Amino acid sequence: MTELLATKNLSRRFVSRDREVIALDDASLTLSAGETLGLAGASGSGKSTLARVLLRLIQADGGTIRFEGEDWLAHSGRELRWRRARMQMVFQDVLSAFNPRATVASVIDDPLRIHNVVAKSERPHEIAALLDRVGLPGSYSARSIRELSGGQRQRVAIARAIATRPSLIVLDEAVSALDVSVRGKILELLVTLQEERGIAYLFISHDLSVLRAVSHRITVMDAGKLVETASARKIIDAPSSPAAKALVAAVPRLIIPRQEGQAEHGF
Ligand SMILES: Nc1ncnc2c1ncn2[C@@H]1O[C@H](COP(=O)(O)OP(=O)(O)OP(=O)(O)O)[C@@H](O)[C@H]1O
Ligand SMILES: [Mg+2]
Repeated sequence: MTELLATKNLSRRFVSRDREVIALDDASLTLSAGETLGLAGASGSGKSTLARVLLRLIQADGGTIRFEGEDWLAHSGRELRWRRARMQMVFQDVLSAFNPRATVASVIDDPLRIHNVVAKSERPHEIAALLDRVGLPGSYSARSIRELSGGQRQRVAIARAIATRPSLIVLDEAVSALDVSVRGKILELLVTLQEERGIAYLFISHDLSVLRAVSHRITVMDAGKLVETASARKIIDAPSSPAAKALVAAVPRLIIPRQEGQAEHGF
């Protein structure tokens, strides 16, 4: 499989008052094109820090990132802005990520405009096509974000993320706030989009039962370190690190992981 992303020895510490936290400690991982890597770990283990370093929202203290065959940390300014089209994100809290009064159309139009994805005259058509793709009626374009349900907001966030035709989407607790039936539908949409478009996901969740439904491999984070990486099945059936064992023990019932190379969606 083609390597899409490779991080080596990423590190990041935070110092607040007299306290120092090593949020990322020599974190190395790889991700193939079209693959879903689940990132699991207890609260505070460093998952969001890793996501933010990858997305270039915060800086790493050390380490390297190769993305699409290039040194991802070498890009800056206009070059970085332009390249961000290839690595998009979906976060848990869409309301705080966007202006809640913004319309659905403007939220999806932003990346189309900034990245010049289609000609200006084509953008309304493209917005309608993206809404349709994520299962929302075109009439929703005029609604404001705060008028949507949690699941509908995540659909808009997904439409925005795929608008620039990325090769990687980083999802940080993207379905955690949704109730179980809505969550299943969103996971199903994400898997279908991946199969259609070959998008890779770094799928962050503290919940292994979510990760088993979508991940090909799972990596487990503990105190800033990636302590165990294996197929979803191996992590769930035979976890070896104390951190992975604790996560598996927290899952209430028997779960069946997605198979490598075939989709098995136990939503
Ligand atoms: N801006 C910051 N300033 C100070 N400390 C921070 C900052 N951001 C993160 N941290 C600390 O770094 C550690 C890792 O935080 P991070 O948000 O990456 O964890 P997480 O695995 O995403 O947790 P959760 O599952 O609760 O979202 C925590 O100890 C956190 O308090
Ligand atoms: Mg987090």
